[in-house]
Amino acid sequence: MRMYDIIEKKRNGKSLTKDEISFVIDGMIKKEIPDYQISSLIMAIYLNGMNDTETTYLTDSMAHSGDMINLEEMFGETVDKHSTGGVGDKTSLVICPIVASLGIKVAKMSGRGLGHTGGTIDKLESIPGFKVDLKEKDFVKQVEDIGISIISQTGNIAPADKKIYALRDTTATVSNIPLIASSIMSKKIAAGDKNILLDVKVGSGAFMKTKKEATELANKMVNIGKKLGKNISAILTNMDEPLGNYVGNSLEVIEAISILKGRGNPELKELCITLATNMVMLARGIKEANARKLVINSINSGKALEKFKEFIKYQHGNPDIVDDYKLLPISKYGYEVKANKTGYITKMNAEEIGKVANLLGAGRSTMEDTIDYGAGIIIESKVGNYVRKGKIIATLYTNKEDIDDIASKYLNAITISNYKPNKKKMILGKIK
Ligand code: URA
Repeated sequence: MRMYDIIEKKRNGKSLTKDEISFVIDGMIKKEIPDYQISSLIMAIYLNGMNDTETTYLTDSMAHSGDMINLEEMFGETVDKHSTGGVGDKTSLVICPIVASLGIKVAKMSGRGLGHTGGTIDKLESIPGFKVDLKEKDFVKQVEDIGISIISQTGNIAPADKKIYALRDTTATVSNIPLIASSIMSKKIAAGDKNILLDVKVGSGAFMKTKKEATELANKMVNIGKKLGKNISAILTNMDEPLGNYVGNSLEVIEAISILKGRGNPELKELCITLATNMVMLARGIKEANARKLVINSINSGKALEKFKEFIKYQHGNPDIVDDYKLLPISKYGYEVKANKTGYITKMNAEEIGKVANLLGAGRSTMEDTIDYGAGIIIESKVGNYVRKGKIIATLYTNKEDIDDIASKYLNAITISNYKPNKKKMILGKIK
């Protein structure tokens, strides 16, 4: 087999076989195929697409390029959840303890922030003392002892995805449905859960800007999962404005705790309840109404919050943060952004707001950058709110001194108009 012929075949819009895809992934991992040929093939895929069968072969081949973990064999009933990425998305911090408090094991590998989107691992690391790099035996023992552990992805999970992602990032080929689907699903398959819930974000802060694209991505990922033997479903959720009111690592931990205490932003709370309910349905095979009751009871009884504290303590973090937010890092300066006119907020460009959070110090531009865990944004006014000129609509937290430019970027991301907008629904659909 020759790489040249495989590139030519995809360039001409033909489908690749399982053997051809395995040849590419094996050759790439063994460094027998140079980056320029892999990049050419990626561009041909970007332009000509891949059908579900090809995408499944690519996913499976990438999943098997490194370590495969069999969580089902280790623990029996486990469930995983994956968000396609958004701004202010702290749902994992809420729903994983809820689900674990119901006796369903959560053995989760999560990622760091990517582009304008945040990552669960960075949020957890903002908790003083919290460790995200556990040895496999400690990870397993923790899940056996308390039913929950969240760690950063180990070095050798789907290394082919790491390599291909890096090439996509530098060749303008990230935003492609088969490539995104295979990238996400290869990591999920290698991590080994039987039950998988996907939270596919739609809107200005998501990779998928329209419901049509998000539906296509969700369908593709669910089909791949089913073909590879998984019990999987996807929820489409709104990411047209940041999720909740807090963006930034320690700030999002605070907002997650407030939801676990039964308070907080009602839309965020409803999303967390819906996602947790769907995880319980997948793991237990029970009806929605029954699963929802269990989830709400876990929050109202304080069991979920207790599980969160136990989880923090087991991973060497300080559980007292739950009752005393001052123990979390918060940046030195709080810069107030005021409305520049009177009217209704009709739009918030969530991607731009994610970029503002990064500029304040909450994210990285390169993987080597360090994060300011206490940087971020408290959003006072969201879509649908009426604001008068001069009202504080957000507070920007940072250790940087001169941030007038960043504050203007926040203001530019907000549209204020003289009509009341229709508020978009949070849950936009479900794919099973
Ligand atoms: N997240 C991933 O892991 N991969 C992509 O391609 C996009 C988002």
